[in-house]
Amino acid sequence: IQAFVEPYQIPGASAALNRNLAAMAESFAVTDDKVREIIAEFHRSMRAGLDKDDRDALPMIPTFVSRRPTGKETGHFLALDLGGTNLRVCQVELRGDTTYSLVQQKFTITQEAKESRLWDFIAECVGIFLEEHDLRPKPGRRTIPCGFTFSFPIFQTSIASGDLSMWNKGFTVPNSVGRDVVNLTQSAFQRHHVPVEVVAIVNDTVGTLMTSAYSFPDTQMGIIFGTGTNAAYWENLSAVGKWKGDRRGEMVVNLEWGAFDNATHVLPYTMHDNKLNRKSSNPGMQVYEKMISGLFLGEVARNAILALVDQRLLFAGRSSEILNKSYTFDTAYMSAIVADDSPGLDAVGTVLEATLELPPTDLVDRRAVQNVCRMIGTRGVRLSAAAMAAVLLSRPELLASPVSVGIDGSMYQFYPNFERDLYAVSRVFLGADFVDNRLKLHLAKDGSGVGAAIVAMTVEEERVAAAA
Ligand code: GLC
Repeated sequence: IQAFVEPYQIPGASAALNRNLAAMAESFAVTDDKVREIIAEFHRSMRAGLDKDDRDALPMIPTFVSRRPTGKETGHFLALDLGGTNLRVCQVELRGDTTYSLVQQKFTITQEAKESRLWDFIAECVGIFLEEHDLRPKPGRRTIPCGFTFSFPIFQTSIASGDLSMWNKGFTVPNSVGRDVVNLTQSAFQRHHVPVEVVAIVNDTVGTLMTSAYSFPDTQMGIIFGTGTNAAYWENLSAVGKWKGDRRGEMVVNLEWGAFDNATHVLPYTMHDNKLNRKSSNPGMQVYEKMISGLFLGEVARNAILALVDQRLLFAGRSSEILNKSYTFDTAYMSAIVADDSPGLDAVGTVLEATLELPPTDLVDRRAVQNVCRMIGTRGVRLSAAAMAAVLLSRPELLASPVSVGIDGSMYQFYPNFERDLYAVSRVFLGADFVDNRLKLHLAKDGSGVGAAIVAMTVEEERVAAAA
């Protein structure tokens, strides 16, 4: 997990290929010094963003979530979880003994929904779920209350409202930026006669944090390493200069760290990153996310592989129709390629020849592709660890006690050795004593949806208490 150049050399390969691999490895390397520089810039940017809304700083969005779960919450609650790839509709049961279960239906978000009719798509899916599970409002009520996990940046104006600040992860639904997404959802529910009311909207990182905290009360942070990447953490309100309300106590702050370095320039950009960035739906935005998350890593790798093909250093200079198209090199292929330790790199061969329809490959081709994927994956893990370390180091007083971090997302779950490497890199920057003895990373499975249910439940309790 060190940024070594040497292991990427291939015995028996041409000098030109090895020279290119060495140069590429260097361009993707994130040295320890680089990580320290990133952490320092993170701290500057976090402080600036807490102080005021500033396009050049991290968004640092106050979430209106200020009560830690106790683990004793009980009951059933409806939750919606709009991720970058799937929409999940779930009925969550909190058992009151720090455990939960859920019944959920997963809908793949169609391209059409990503580009235009998202709100109607959501209403239709919720309608289907209510019907299939025979859910109706409780007697005396006209709607079913629901928690909504929304995994895009919104500037929250209350626990149940927030204006979309921008789309990312390939979404481009028009007439949405600047508008209250709860309103947009609620109107669609009305159009489709879906008797549901959104009582709380949370970012997926906030949901993950709350879910982890339900089971592990020492949870300080929730992270998504998935299609996109982001985190939320507990901050003292006294440190949130831009918070206009009561400054006592604490609140969950959504960092929107995918936007890190949008205005500065400390990240190790390569020509392959720049190409991806320029062609993306949001050039110049979410540049950190584009180096870390599942939606983009495969595309960076595709660009890098094609650069070697164009120099006739791979596949005898031939590509395939599939590989020539953007976003065809799925990050899941990268995982399969990196994980392959068979002597003939058979799994690599299968991806290249069967899936991507490239001409027959030899062992040098396969090894070179594996090395390119490893460089890019390693950079992703090191940058992921840098961000996590930066947030934990911003509250050094926490490091004296046990700290849990709740994490969800496809990179964390499926990229080979992601968690092991996250611990390993963290040791360097957070100290071996803290990492070995007090830091615990937990998979908060389906955490984003469950967390929305937990927050919605506290909102409902407060409403009931206020009405009594
Ligand atoms: C993107 C979104 C952010 C979300 C993350 C993970 O970075 O801006 O809100 O938390 O993806 O899904």
